[in-house]
Amino acid sequence: MDTYEKYYSTIAKSIKASEIRELLAIIRAKKDVISFAGGLPDPKTFPKKELAEIAQRIILEYGDLSLQYSETKGIRKVRVTLTSFIKDVRGFSVDPENLLITTGSQQALDLISRSLLDPGDVVITENPSYLAALGVFRMRGANIVGVKIDEHGIKTDLLEETVKRLVSEGKKIKFIYVIPVAQNPAGTTMTLERKKHLIEIANRYDLLVLEDDPYSYFIYEEGVDATAIKALDTEDRVIYISTISKILAPGIRIGWIASPSQLTRKFELIKQYLDLHTPTLNQYILAEILKTSLVKEHVKRLAPYYKVKRDIMVESIEEYFPDEIWYTKPVGGLFVFVYVNKPGFNASAMVSVALDKYKVAYVPGKSFHPDGSGANSMRLNFSYPTLELIEEGIKRLGEMIKTEA
Ligand SMILES: Cc1ncc(COP(=O)(O)O)c(C=O)c1O
Repeated sequence: MDTYEKYYSTIAKSIKASEIRELLAIIRAKKDVISFAGGLPDPKTFPKKELAEIAQRIILEYGDLSLQYSETKGIRKVRVTLTSFIKDVRGFSVDPENLLITTGSQQALDLISRSLLDPGDVVITENPSYLAALGVFRMRGANIVGVKIDEHGIKTDLLEETVKRLVSEGKKIKFIYVIPVAQNPAGTTMTLERKKHLIEIANRYDLLVLEDDPYSYFIYEEGVDATAIKALDTEDRVIYISTISKILAPGIRIGWIASPSQLTRKFELIKQYLDLHTPTLNQYILAEILKTSLVKEHVKRLAPYYKVKRDIMVESIEEYFPDEIWYTKPVGGLFVFVYVNKPGFNASAMVSVALDKYKVAYVPGKSFHPDGSGANSMRLNFSYPTLELIEEGIKRLGEMIKTEA
């Protein structure tokens, strides 16, 4: 019994512990389990020496500024540096005034949701989609409508039908949320045609688009189109968010929003009351890093490092899993998402069997699906385990699916 229940707000009452967090806590206690359940970058990739040197220099040289309170929107000098980085790496221009620095892109999702969503508003997402984004939208009372994906991301023909239907039912759609490159969890990447179609739909039906872009910086294949949807935006409808979490280190907690100026102003006003500003010290560290070639060189090292892990996972799936599965080989990111097409296979129900009997862990995919489907799916992380453990773990999972389902 929770003795504080009577004090809780409606949001606090409605919020439930995330399935993943609870599962991760159980797994941490089981040392003999091979875990594909996390979503962490491999700490071996963190550029610790370089970061330590830069952090020390910033504190010694800019201590008075870097340890002080700063602007809510983000330090101007840092925003200016970041706009050059965005232009250089993601190919679109943004005025530093239209850039807001956030405490991770998770805060960006929160600021945007607080600014745009009222209970009952519709948000359209990919089905499946990023769990912590779905959580934020739900916390604002949004009604989330998932649209099917295939290996080329959200099926924009179905998206158009869905929008048409919702509009005809009088529903208020606020935005379409997509992760166009190496989607979390499904690993899908949108084609240029689909991105153009999505913009067309947003223009036709007067909708905003929320583009979440953490994974486009390192891609494992040649010839993948990673054009930002924001770069195709002709009517100022795209709110673009990104982060250094996957290209440097998530613990630094820096993300950003590039958006039309009036929206940026609203996000800034709300951020004032959330955390005043993102840590000044970390912003200075980021600006200093972006002046060097560290990120670019680091990203060049990350792609082959994670590609080997992805390849081992995909090859092992091909070898050890039964034929009745569907998944896409992700061109980036940290996950392979597998649907097991065997009648009665329930990934949530199988978690404890996987843990206790086969000593392997994954995240059941159902909670990533806003439409409640996906009971037969599982998310497998390949960035964290070693190559040997990836092969052994997939072998065990394959055995489980073949014998238990
Ligand atoms: C699609 C997506 N969006 C946002 C985030 C949040 O990242 P952060 O808050 O570390 O920038 C993640 C983290 O895994 C993610 O996968």
